[in-house]
Amino acid sequence: MKQEIYVEDLSKHIDEEVTLRGWLYNKRSSGKIQFLILRDGTGLCQCVVMKNAVDEESFAVGDRLTQESAVAVTGKVQKTQKDAPGGIELFASKVEAIALTADYPITPKEHGIEYLMANRHLWHRSTRPWATMRIRHTLVKAIRDFFDDRGFILFDAPILTPNAAEGTSTLFETKYFDEGMAYLSQSGQLYAEAGAMALGKVYVFGPTFRAERSKTKRHLTEFWMVEPEVAFMDLEGDMQLAEEFVHFVVTRVLEQRKPELAILDEGTGKLETRLRNVLKPFKRLHYDEAAKILDKYWDEKLAQGTEDLPPTFKRFTYGDDFGAYDEVALTSIYEEPVIVHHYPAEVKAFYMKRDPNEPDKALAMDVLFPGFGEIIGGSQREDDYDTLVQRIKEHNLPMEAFEWYLDLRKYGSVPHAGFGLGLERLVLWVCELDHIREAIPFPRTLNRIWP
Ligand code: 4AD
Ligand code: MG
Repeated sequence: MKQEIYVEDLSKHIDEEVTLRGWLYNKRSSGKIQFLILRDGTGLCQCVVMKNAVDEESFAVGDRLTQESAVAVTGKVQKTQKDAPGGIELFASKVEAIALTADYPITPKEHGIEYLMANRHLWHRSTRPWATMRIRHTLVKAIRDFFDDRGFILFDAPILTPNAAEGTSTLFETKYFDEGMAYLSQSGQLYAEAGAMALGKVYVFGPTFRAERSKTKRHLTEFWMVEPEVAFMDLEGDMQLAEEFVHFVVTRVLEQRKPELAILDEGTGKLETRLRNVLKPFKRLHYDEAAKILDKYWDEKLAQGTEDLPPTFKRFTYGDDFGAYDEVALTSIYEEPVIVHHYPAEVKAFYMKRDPNEPDKALAMDVLFPGFGEIIGGSQREDDYDTLVQRIKEHNLPMEAFEWYLDLRKYGSVPHAGFGLGLERLVLWVCELDHIREAIPFPRTLNRIWP
């Protein structure tokens, strides 16, 4: 009986005869011996094919195999002292070609990022995307486990929606039969609020869309967001939840994905150190405090010259929201994430509650990650009917579209809060990727909708 197994299970089959099925990742040969590096999706294995240990056909197949040819190799699993993946080799007794490949477009040489992105459907077979997607998977599972273990109920929000949630400038619209316009959801939050009033603690986890015209390394037009929402929670509770949540998911990556981290940082241990720093208590800064730190930072920085800043750079002034440069500046001071809270209400969303003690500030918070910036944005929500009506008017939003949302303030309104975490930004940060397009299997950006 053939034992068909996966590379990741090889260590359970030492000295046994097994069959691996996969694709040729790389190969070396010298006359009487071939080293075939096979990948099967779960890992890499070096298969040693010796001319005198296999039939003639097997050896001839080994010669013909090209990069990404599909292949099955049967042989004996052996521990090795040699520098082979996993410290294990397969000593072949049979090699069978399943599909030969010609001219695979991604060779071991360096390719430019545009070329790799155009071949994203194939690039996934390479080691870096492979490691990144495995870490993404683990983060998604950890996110679900965190909320599930704490009694949150998954509450799926619609993707086709009648109104904006996060400002009208980034809406994707589509005609919706005779009902007028529908918009792709920018955030499931408003629906999560309805869920929290029904189920207490909920989370929405799904794709969201923003017609972002920006070409930054942090913006996608389609991204995944997880959004917890809790009845009777205030801003303080929201910040605590966010901190616990980040600690939990990062710990999971450290527990389960060290080999993948090592692939991404080439064994320097840099990524692990970054992740461990996140496990410290987060630094908290009131907006006013953060603004002072930034002012000082830009005074000093600009005194040294502006050569390394782009022409579009605009210096922060008090009352502004932070730009990408401000966030990077602020977070380069600390090793742990920084929570900035009490942003000016003027620059924030219509649904955020204002602090009764500081009426010009919103009960809002952003979690900024070291050297990067915002990955989480959250707030306590406005729970007073009349005030919310007023905000909707101030933001020139269509009142009819929000009637159902206002109902939540009519019938048993209570304090409540939540936040949204952008999954791809988290993946980008954990893996220290150059660009967010590498954090999702098939990215959608201003100028890319293919493959
Ligand atoms: O700060 P944002 O806009 O907040 C909301 O949407 C709230 N409704 C969330 C809530 O309170 N339930 O977005 C939340 C997060 C950001 O911190 C960022 O990580 C991510 O979503 N995000 C994006 N990620 C990739 N591409 C984009 N264009 C993004 N826009 C936001
Ligand atoms: Mg935000």
